[in-house]
Amino acid sequence: MIKLESLSKHFGKAVVLDSIDLAIEEGEIVVIIGPSGTGKSTLLRCVNFLEQPTKGTMTVGDLTVDVNRASRADILSMRRRTAFVFQNYALFSNKTALQNIAERLLVVDRWPKEKAYQRAREILEQIGLADKADAYPASMSGGQQQRVGIGRAMATGATSSV
Ligand SMILES: Nc1ncnc2c1ncn2[C@@H]1O[C@H](COP(=O)(O)OP(=O)(O)O)[C@@H](O)[C@H]1O
Ligand SMILES: [Mg+2]
Repeated sequence: MIKLESLSKHFGKAVVLDSIDLAIEEGEIVVIIGPSGTGKSTLLRCVNFLEQPTKGTMTVGDLTVDVNRASRADILSMRRRTAFVFQNYALFSNKTALQNIAERLLVVDRWPKEKAYQRAREILEQIGLADKADAYPASMSGGQQQRVGIGRAMATGATSSV
């Protein structure tokens, strides 16, 4: 379902990812471990083009892209197929918990407002934060903010289960 072939990422002269090959089957749960600063986050960031990889090929589901030939549409399509929980949560500070979770569905997946907010409420329920729908990140605990970050990654509008 996910395949990386010869994926490299250089920051100037620093070769952070050196021709990585990786294949993950549907339903597999994979953990990437290693010392701090070895490129785990960079690898994940490359898969949805938060970083432009230097070289290689990436496949998610039925989409395969050569990272140097990826069109704007390919990049958007890759982002629709992936979800990301950031280490520092990276919530929008001017948006409520509900709005943070609905944002992707509204902007990336272009769901109508009512449907996006309804889905966001379901997710808030699942992560135990139904009562925090209208709370802003600054008024939530670290753990609550982290759960909103997870909730945001759960809010994928893609039809595939990727
Ligand atoms: N934007 C960047 N510019 C230059 N170097 C970077 C950048 N992002 C990450 N790095 C470097 O790449 C290496 C891997 O970082 P990272 O992927 O965040 O590591 P990990 O997630 O495994 O702790 C580190 O040496 C880091 O300093
Ligand atoms: Mg990291």
